[in-house]
Amino acid sequence: MSKLIPQPQPTFLIGNLKEIDSTHGLESLKRLHKLYGDIYRLTFFNKSFVVVCSQEIVNFVCDETKFDKNVSQALEELRAAAGDGLFTAHTSEPNWKLAHKILMPAFGPQAIRDMFPAMMDICTQLILRWERFAGEEIDVCDNLTRLTLDTIALCSFNYRFNSFYHNTMHRFVDAMINVLIESGKRVGRFSLQNTLMMTTARRYKNDVEYIHNLCDEIVQERRKNPNDVNDLLNRMINGKDPETGYQLSDENIRYQMFTFLVAGHETTSGLLSFTLYYLLKNPRALQKAQAEVDLYNEITVDTLSKLKYIDAVLKETLRLQPTAPGFSLESKIGDIMLPGGYIVEKDDMILVLLSGLHRDPKVWDQPEEFIPERMLNGGFEKLPPNLWKPFGNGQRACIGRPFAWQESLLAIALILKHFNIEFVDPSYDLRIKETLTIKPDGFKIRVRPRQQIG
Ligand code: HEM
Repeated sequence: MSKLIPQPQPTFLIGNLKEIDSTHGLESLKRLHKLYGDIYRLTFFNKSFVVVCSQEIVNFVCDETKFDKNVSQALEELRAAAGDGLFTAHTSEPNWKLAHKILMPAFGPQAIRDMFPAMMDICTQLILRWERFAGEEIDVCDNLTRLTLDTIALCSFNYRFNSFYHNTMHRFVDAMINVLIESGKRVGRFSLQNTLMMTTARRYKNDVEYIHNLCDEIVQERRKNPNDVNDLLNRMINGKDPETGYQLSDENIRYQMFTFLVAGHETTSGLLSFTLYYLLKNPRALQKAQAEVDLYNEITVDTLSKLKYIDAVLKETLRLQPTAPGFSLESKIGDIMLPGGYIVEKDDMILVLLSGLHRDPKVWDQPEEFIPERMLNGGFEKLPPNLWKPFGNGQRACIGRPFAWQESLLAIALILKHFNIEFVDPSYDLRIKETLTIKPDGFKIRVRPRQQIG
């Protein structure tokens, strides 16, 4: 017997738009989860979304024979800047398969190890900056965004934003944030509204142009002065599909560059910021993590794989705060019945809400608590499948996961090795800032070099 998916009462024309706070959309979805349960439907204008939150249903929709990534309307809007780059491409588009084949080896174990010196280069800049700012207020997200942006640009294109040498962030960051925010807002407007908001539309166009020009300049520079570094850019310029011999076009390389710059830094800087927050809120975990780093005189690429507790801390942080808070799927085989007897239709977008999945009390013990120990020794891998999905699903899962992991282990290890950290405001409680990703809002720390404290 099929059951109706619960839905808040829709309003004429706009549907459930009023249920969603435009600056705190995620909070709205969490509120609706509490009100309507593990599955609910929302309609915006003529588009229908089904939000799923339990491990049982998520496990069902992660079956790639039945479901595929859905390029949501927000991602469709983002295609103005990211085109058919990996993140925003439909799986059926030829460029997704081509780029996936060419770029997968760039994220293999040896390729990621080879990026260690560049990661260390930028991370050392963060440590030097924090040594200079010892005892003063440090805006955590700002600093960690500088770290992750500079790291992805150096590792991918051998390009230096030099964010630690300037007070304000590089213009690229502003342009990128505006494009992300505006792409999201455009979804909630009628298309005529988007056309009539001329100043906003002009700024959007200018920002997209600025981003594309910057990417094109980097490509032209590399073509003029080729090198034999095995970075992403050289792989994109020279790489061929082994079967067909096809290569990526310059236009697609530009889209991939934007994609890597965006996907490759926002989520990781959020992860690092939340990690420091949870360590400060849980002094015992902080102590254990610091004791683990202290076992090693030097942090090398080989040390990183031995940092099992910090690895567990990062995993537990992503459970509680998945910095990409959801992903969307659609049925490949028409209408389909989900566990519980709910039917999703062919054109429904299915949104996996990770805050629900990662705290599903049916599969997680003490789901609201920060307990890194649960992630040790393959911890959650012994639990039911598909209950921890911060990197998405199947062939459309995050290609940059090994990159993010090496970078995060390194950053946390170096920070804890060099500093004792404390809240500026010990009564600070987590507030979340939402763009396409989430970060802690207004989170500030002080650091004190450990050798001075003895
Ligand atoms: C895809 C999360 C870091 C590049 C994804 C997806 C998620 C995700 C959930 C799937 C999105 C979807 O299904 O619509 C994260 C998290 C990260 C992280 C939580 C850090 C903690 C990175 C890094 C890079 C990267 C460092 C680049 C170096 C990408 C790309 C895709 C992707 C290109 C699209 C892959 C495809 O569809 O073929 N990521 N990501 N991500 N990520 Fe990440």
